Amino acid sequence: MSKNILVLPGDGIGPEIVAEAVKVLEKVNADFQLDISIDEALVGGAAYDAAGDPLPEKTLDKARQADAILFGSIGGPKWDAIERDKRPERGLLRLRSSLGLFANLRPAILFPQLASASTLKPEVVSGLDILIVRELTGGIYFGQPRGIREENGERVGFNTDVYSESEIRRIARVAFELAMARDKRLLSVDKANVLEVTELWKEVVDSMSAEYPDVEVSHMYVDNAAMQLVRAPKQFDVIVTGNLFGDILSDEAAMLTGSIGMLPSASLDENRKGLYEPCHGSAPDIAGQGIANPLATILSLAMLMRYSLERGDVADVIEAAVERVLEQGLRTADIMADGCTPVGTQAMGDAVVAAL
Ligand code: IPM
Ligand code: MG
Repeated sequence: MSKNILVLPGDGIGPEIVAEAVKVLEKVNADFQLDISIDEALVGGAAYDAAGDPLPEKTLDKARQADAILFGSIGGPKWDAIERDKRPERGLLRLRSSLGLFANLRPAILFPQLASASTLKPEVVSGLDILIVRELTGGIYFGQPRGIREENGERVGFNTDVYSESEIRRIARVAFELAMARDKRLLSVDKANVLEVTELWKEVVDSMSAEYPDVEVSHMYVDNAAMQLVRAPKQFDVIVTGNLFGDILSDEAAMLTGSIGMLPSASLDENRKGLYEPCHGSAPDIAGQGIANPLATILSLAMLMRYSLERGDVADVIEAAVERVLEQGLRTADIMADGCTPVGTQAMGDAVVAAL
């Protein structure tokens, strides 16, 4: 079937964690004779340093041609002061937007071995399995006008939160379909008591529920949803929301699973071509020390196998290997617990490869 995967390591801990996921990729490629070719390109601050652009044309071309993209992380204090359009984050946003990756799937699953790694009580989080579906190419992240301008002798910053009905319907459809394949409960998160854009969001999601009579639809304001996520997270199955709320709630959900170092994600277009990345950032404070947790990236690779290559069997094998390594008591610093064995990034990656 010959598939091409583009690897974009990026900045900070990105190259370290992606290297471990690539080891896993090479192993399953050989074991399952997947006939995958791996290419690599620059993105983020690394691309800015080399080519003056966080998303060089060459990288975008390769991304367009690839069957799937495995992404590390971007950004760091080194690039905070450069011109806004050239900042690493803008490279990632342009990549998402150029490829039409509107559907961001962020599953927060608690591995039973990590129940005590969460800051929440084990009984609150044990058995947790929720899926956040975040709209990724619209809303306030991309709305125009935006900027910082002078007004009456001072600077004024402004952004625009905007969603069309078709954008809402498109992401809601993905969420309904995913809910159908799970526990058939869908929560739509909005701030419809204040923001018109989310009033429309709520209406459109509601109007679609007739097409999915088996799915139980509910709505929650984002402030309440944030509270419920730490109060009683197991009440949720699939959560669908806009770009900004999804960004925030998915970090919160990540902590329920013990560490943001465990949370993978898939960003899909209409044809299920996708970009796969850990939900955590580039963690410049620990970059280069060999201590970052590579599991979110390895689990992102599993999602890549499942969604873009339609190899759920390979995804299952990768996820089982991660679970086995946790069972063996191996832990990176972010998930370390009493009686476990501390390991670094490479040792964790090697252990997953060995457990495949
Ligand atoms: C994420 C990140 C990005 C976002 C940043 C790095 C632009 O926080 O993927 O959640 O806000 O979408
Ligand atoms: Mg985020």
